[in-house]
Amino acid sequence: MTTLKVAVVGSGPAGLYTAEALIKQAAALPQPPSIRVDVLDRLPTPYGLVRYGVAPDHKSIKSIAEYLRKVLEHPDVGFLGDVHLGDDVSRDDLLACYDAVVYATGAMRDRHLGIPGEDLPGSYAATDFVNWYCGHPDIDPAAFTLDAESVAVIGVGNVAVDVARILARDPAELRGTDVSQPVLDALMASKVREVHVIGRRGPAQAKFTTKEMRELGELPGVDVVVSAAEADLDAFDPTGGSAELAVSDRRVRGNYQVISGWAGREPTGQARRLTLRFWLRPVEIEGDQRVRGLVLERTRLDDQGAFIGTGERETLAASMVLRSVGYQSVPLAGVPFDERAAVVPNVGGRVIGPDGEPLPGEYVAGWLKRGPTGVIGTNKSDAAQTVRCLLEDLAGGPGPGDSALPRAGLLRYPEPGADGGAGSPLESVLSGRGVRPVTYQDWLRIEAAEAALGESLGRGGRVKLAGQAALRAACFPPET
Ligand SMILES: Cc1cc2nc3c(=O)[nH]c(=O)nc-3n(C[C@H](O)[C@H](O)[C@H](O)COP(=O)(O)OP(=O)(O)OC[C@H]3O[C@@H](n4cnc5c(N)ncnc54)[C@H](O)[C@@H]3O)c2cc1C
Ligand SMILES: NC(=O)c1ccc[n+]([C@@H]2O[C@H](COP(=O)([O-])OP(=O)(O)OC[C@H]3O[C@@H](n4cnc5c(N)ncnc54)[C@H](OP(=O)(O)O)[C@@H]3O)[C@@H](O)[C@H]2O)c1
Repeated sequence: MTTLKVAVVGSGPAGLYTAEALIKQAAALPQPPSIRVDVLDRLPTPYGLVRYGVAPDHKSIKSIAEYLRKVLEHPDVGFLGDVHLGDDVSRDDLLACYDAVVYATGAMRDRHLGIPGEDLPGSYAATDFVNWYCGHPDIDPAAFTLDAESVAVIGVGNVAVDVARILARDPAELRGTDVSQPVLDALMASKVREVHVIGRRGPAQAKFTTKEMRELGELPGVDVVVSAAEADLDAFDPTGGSAELAVSDRRVRGNYQVISGWAGREPTGQARRLTLRFWLRPVEIEGDQRVRGLVLERTRLDDQGAFIGTGERETLAASMVLRSVGYQSVPLAGVPFDERAAVVPNVGGRVIGPDGEPLPGEYVAGWLKRGPTGVIGTNKSDAAQTVRCLLEDLAGGPGPGDSALPRAGLLRYPEPGADGGAGSPLESVLSGRGVRPVTYQDWLRIEAAEAALGESLGRGGRVKLAGQAALRAACFPPET
């Protein structure tokens, strides 16, 4: 029996769907190899954005972690948490220890607006705000004090909708979620009364999905407001294209139905107000010591359908600005990277080298492969495609003992009698560097500590530990 050893870097949905597909698809090969999959993550916790991106009040989506848990519990899968590709291990280490490596490190960097004032105190990337309310260990649990009465959220994608909802929602409703206690306390003390969500184009071009939109209108204690003029599909688009989209595109049609239901409605005096604005692009964030306002320019489409600024400006009073204009992947040391598209260049998941040929043994999945779009489920079919390529390369590659690769990109079939499923091939490299990985058992201790914390706080469920030190203390208690 031969053992195929694969390292998957990243334990988000893409990484774990890749591990699952490897197990399933390898078992279905005519001569199934035994398989060992190590899933590495720079964090001590698995699940990527399912844990640190999906909003805490979206409990049913977060429960995808229960499905992904089964992948990590498979006997042929190992978890190596707290291992950073770049700092703790290199690409060369992985290629030396494994037959194949699948990079699935997502897209955690915010995109920049490139406008004056972007770096003023009070102007934040939504990535940081999301990390904060999700308890990401990269960010100080005390990083945000919500003392702004009026907040502007730039962008009309689902992340903008998430952050606007978290800001507008009655924080008492978050008691029953896993939100960490310092974050809940900060939300309870929030002074935010007005949240403005700003789209540079119109309702027909907004990226959010209808279910997420509709939820905004169902928040108790929140007035949702949109002006009739900005909701009008023809007012800023003389081509009729927006109105056409609202007929032909199911998502746009759904969004438009929800938005037009709010259009022109008078606020009813609720405690908080969420205002949707369209056809306004940010040109400057104003302020001296901190953010005071957001300067916006009216936009429209011209007769040819080109997006233009009209020169007409308005200033929105806001002392906090959240820039929610998309995520970006970061390059991994030594791994090819397309700076323009911010993805690892690939064809169907095969990493492509500078000569345009696939690199043997290197693959990519998820947001790092196709950019930051799509829902969690999109990563499943995407990972399956990558794994199909990997196993095709194995099946088409040279057998044990054959020396020459018949073509670039093929994988060598593992040698017979190679070590079986026990232990990680990376073990000696890590121990030689004094790196102690967080195992799945260690992670279970974090989960148990979070359950105990929730119980002790009377919060009715698991509550996230706040900060790096607390996570570390939970997974490596003194007796281990
Ligand atoms: C704020 C937000 C909310 C979302 N909410 C939803 C939702 O409600 N429903 C939905 O369907 N989709 C949602 N999505 C989309 C969904 O989260 C993504 O489709 C999905 O997480 C992408 O999976 P991924 O595995 O490629 O990346 P990620 O989930 O980001 O996983 C990447 C993993 O790689 C690790 N990593 C990064 N760099 C390294 C390194 N150098 N070495 C080792 N490990 C590394 C990271 O720690 C992380 O665990 C949301 C996205 C965001 C940004
Ligand atoms: N509940 C869920 O299912 C859920 C929750 C969160 C995230 N997600 C998914 O995660 C992915 C990422 O979401 P996202 O919201 O970060 O990205 P997104 O969907 O790409 O939205 C980005 C928004 O930023 C705007 N924008 C970009 N550059 C701008 C600029 N310079 N000035 C003003 N506005 C600008 C875009 O407008 P233009 O269109 O004009 O460029 C768009 O409205 C999406 O696929 C999303 O569906 C899903």
